[in-house]
Amino acid sequence: MAHKPIRKAIFPVAGLGTRFLPATKAVPKELLPVVDRPLIQYAVDEAIEAGIEQMIFVTGRGKGAIEDYFDIAFECETLQRERGKDLSALEGTRLAPGNAVFLRQQESLGLGHAIWCARDIIGDEPFAILLPDEFMKGTPGNGCMKQMVDAYEKTGGNLVCALEIPIEQTPSYGVIDPGARDGVLTEVKGLVEKPALGTAPSNLILPGRYILQPGVMKILETQEKGAGGEIQLTDAMASMIGQQPFHGVTFDGRRFDCGSKAGYIEANLAMALERADIGAHIRAFATAELAQG
Ligand code: UTP
Repeated sequence: MAHKPIRKAIFPVAGLGTRFLPATKAVPKELLPVVDRPLIQYAVDEAIEAGIEQMIFVTGRGKGAIEDYFDIAFECETLQRERGKDLSALEGTRLAPGNAVFLRQQESLGLGHAIWCARDIIGDEPFAILLPDEFMKGTPGNGCMKQMVDAYEKTGGNLVCALEIPIEQTPSYGVIDPGARDGVLTEVKGLVEKPALGTAPSNLILPGRYILQPGVMKILETQEKGAGGEIQLTDAMASMIGQQPFHGVTFDGRRFDCGSKAGYIEANLAMALERADIGAHIRAFATAELAQG
C-alpha cells in the first residue's frame, strides 16, 4: 500500500541550550560547528537526502542567526566572487525559495509544544522531526532519516529511531517499551519519558528522529505538562500507540549526542579524523597527546 509521502520536516531549535553556556549565550546551539559545518546543516542535509522538501524551523528569541544562515550572504558572496574564490562550501545553505519556513515558539515550554507550534504548516500530512543536536552519522547516501523513510514506505503509521544505550543512562531520555522485533523494526508497545533509574522498560531510547502522523497535533493541543514540567512529545506519541502502527527503527550508523559536551567533542574528533584535509594531522596530534597520558 502506498503511504502519503514525507515531504515536510520540523527542526525544533527553540531550546535554550543551557548545557553549552556561555557559548550559547549569543550563538544558537544548532549553529555550533562539527569541524566546519553547523549541526543544523547536517540535519537539513539528512532530511534532503531522505527526499524531504520543506524545512520548518521552530525558532525562538536569540535564534535569528539560523534564518540568516539559510539566506544568501550577499556581501560575503559578492566579495568572494569578485576575488574569484570558490563558493561551493555555501551550497548546502541555500534552500529552494519557499522551502524554508521559520516560526517562533515564544516560550520554551517543551519539545511537544515546539512541534505543536508548526501544526498549521503541517496540515494533514505525515511529517518528520529531526533534533539537530543529535548528530546521526549514517553511511554515504543512507542517513538516519533516509533509513526511516524507507521503513515507513513499508509500515506507514508512526516511526521513531530506536537506539540501544547503557541502561543507567535511560533517565535522560524517552524510552521504548518494545514488542516483537523484525529485522530493523521493533514494535512499540509503550513510551515513557525520562523514567526514574531502575524503572525503564528497556534500554532502547528515542535519539531524536521521528516520522509521525498529523493526528499527534490534536493530542498535543490538550497535552498536560509531563516530565520536567515540559509538554512532552513522548507523552503525545504514547497515546497514539494501539490506534495506529508504531515502530522503532534500528539505525545503521553512529550517533553523537551533541547536546552534551562530551558527545559534541566526540563528533568533532570522529569527523575531523575522516577528513582528507586535516585527518592525518588530527590523528598525529591526538596520538601524541594521548601518549603524554
Ligand atoms: P534539549 O532537551 O536538548 O534542550 O531539547 P535545549 O534547551 O536545547 O538544551 P539544554 O538541555 O538547555 O542544554 C531537545 C530539542 O528540543 C528543542 C531544542 O531546541 C532541541 O532541539 N526544544 C526544546 C524546543 O525547540 N523547544 C523547547 O521548549 C524545548
